[in-house]
Amino acid sequence: MTTISTYTVTSSRDDKYPFVYANPVRVEQRYHPEHDDSSPAQPTPQATATQSALLLHGVGQQYTLVTDHAIPSILGQEEILVKVQAIGLNPIDWKGPAYNFGIPSLPWINGRDLAGVVVAVRDANSRIRVGDRVLVPSTDYRDIRKAAFQQYAVATHFNAARIPAATGLHVSASLGVAFVAATLALGVSLGLDYTTIAACPGPNLVEVVQKVPPTEIPADVREECFAAVPEHERLRKGDWLVIWGASTTTGMITLQLAKLAGVKVICVADVARHGARLHALGADVLVDRHAPARAVEIIRGVTQGKLRFAVDIVGRDTAALLQEVLVEDGTVREDGSHAHLLGLTGLPKERRPGIVYHTVPIKLFHASAGVGETMVAWLEELLQSTALVCPEVVRHAGGLEGINAALDTLRQGGVSGKRIVIELEG
Ligand SMILES: NC(=O)c1ccc[n+]([C@@H]2O[C@H](COP(=O)([O-])OP(=O)(O)OC[C@H]3O[C@@H](n4cnc5c(N)ncnc54)[C@H](OP(=O)(O)O)[C@@H]3O)[C@@H](O)[C@H]2O)c1
Repeated sequence: MTTISTYTVTSSRDDKYPFVYANPVRVEQRYHPEHDDSSPAQPTPQATATQSALLLHGVGQQYTLVTDHAIPSILGQEEILVKVQAIGLNPIDWKGPAYNFGIPSLPWINGRDLAGVVVAVRDANSRIRVGDRVLVPSTDYRDIRKAAFQQYAVATHFNAARIPAATGLHVSASLGVAFVAATLALGVSLGLDYTTIAACPGPNLVEVVQKVPPTEIPADVREECFAAVPEHERLRKGDWLVIWGASTTTGMITLQLAKLAGVKVICVADVARHGARLHALGADVLVDRHAPARAVEIIRGVTQGKLRFAVDIVGRDTAALLQEVLVEDGTVREDGSHAHLLGLTGLPKERRPGIVYHTVPIKLFHASAGVGETMVAWLEELLQSTALVCPEVVRHAGGLEGINAALDTLRQGGVSGKRIVIELEG
C-alpha cells in the first residue's frame, strides 16, 4: 500500500462554521491501485453551504448584498479557505466598477485585502494550518473565489501571511496589496536587494525571479520580470529615490522598505497633513505636493542631477513631472546609464530617451508560488520584528453591507493617509 498524500482534516463539528470541523488532525490517506479504485477523500466539506457576499451586477452600480451565495470550493492542493473577519478597502474597489476595469464578468465579487482565520487546508505540509490568523493580499482578481467581499474566501498558502500574536487582525487587513506592490516595485522593477537589510533581511527578488520558469509568469509581465535593471544600474544604499504620492498606503510602505535598505528618500505629499507621519517613517526630504512646479525645482536642487529612480503613485500627470526631473531637457547621461521611472497608476504618454519605464508586475505574486511564498514569509518576519510599521486604519463596523458607504467616503477623499478596514462579525 502506498501513501499518496497527507491531508489536514478535522474531527469534531463546530457550530459556528456549518461545514468546518474543529480540532484538526492529520490523516494519512492510503491508496493501492490494485485493491482500491476510489479516489482519495477530498477535505472540502463546504461545497453546498451558503454565505453572504457583495455582488456587482453592472458597471457604475453599487454592490448588492446577497445571503445565499455559495461558499467557494477549494480546488487545488495549494489552496486554503479563510473565514474573512476584516477587509481593507483599496481605491480599485470603487475605481473598477466606476471605470469598468478588473471585472472579468458579471455578476462579480471584488475586494483585494482580507484578514481572518483559516478554516480548511488541503496540504498538510504547508506553512498554513487550520486556526491560523492570516492576512491575504488577493491580487488574483480573475478568480472570484479569492475576492474579499464575502464571508469565506479561497487563497493559496503561498499568498497568505500568518499574523503575529502582537499584531491586530484589523490592521493586518490594511497592508497586503500595498506591501505586494511596494515590494515588487522596488525589489523586481528597480532591483533593490533586500538581503542587505540588517534589521530584517529579505530576499533578493531579482535572483528569485530568475529561477522561475518563464512559462509560470504571465506573458504581459514577463519582460518587466526578466529584463530587470542591469546589475550596475540597480537601486541601492545611498541612492536617491523620489516617491510622488508618499502619503498613500503603498507610498508609506515603499518609503519604509527603501529606508530599511539605506536608500535616501524624497517624499512628495501634502506635507501639512502627512509630514509628521512621513518624517517618523524615515523620509529624508519632504516636498509639498500642492505646488508641483516648485516641487520639481526642489527635487532637482536637492539631488543635484543625481536622481535616477522615481516611483509615482498618483497618476500620469505627476509621472510626467517626475520624468522632467529624471532627464532634464531630454539629455542622456554621459556614462550611458539610464534613469528608472515606475508608475503604479499610469505613465506619461510621451516617453523620453534615457529613461526606462516600469509598471509593477503585480501578477507575479499569485502566478509564482516561489515568489509569493518568499514575499509572505518575509512579511511575517517584518511584522514579527516590527521593522515594518502598519498603516493607520479607520475601522468600520458595518460588515459587508457597510462597504458601499465606506467606498463613497474613500472616493470623496474623506479618509486621508489611512486605510478603511471593514469589520465582519465573528
Ligand atoms: N498597479 C498596481 O498593481 C497597484 C497596486 C497598488 C496600488 N495601486 C494604485 O496606487 C494608488 C495608491 O493606492 P493606495 O491604496 O496606496 O492609496 P490610498 O492609501 O488610498 O491613498 C490615498 C492617499 O492618496 C493621496 N493623494 C491623493 N491625490 C494625490 C495627489 N495628487 N498627490 C499626492 N498624493 C495624493 C491622498 O493624500 P492627501 O491627504 O494629500 O489627499 C491620500 O492620503 C491607487 O491609484 C492604486 O490604484 C496600483
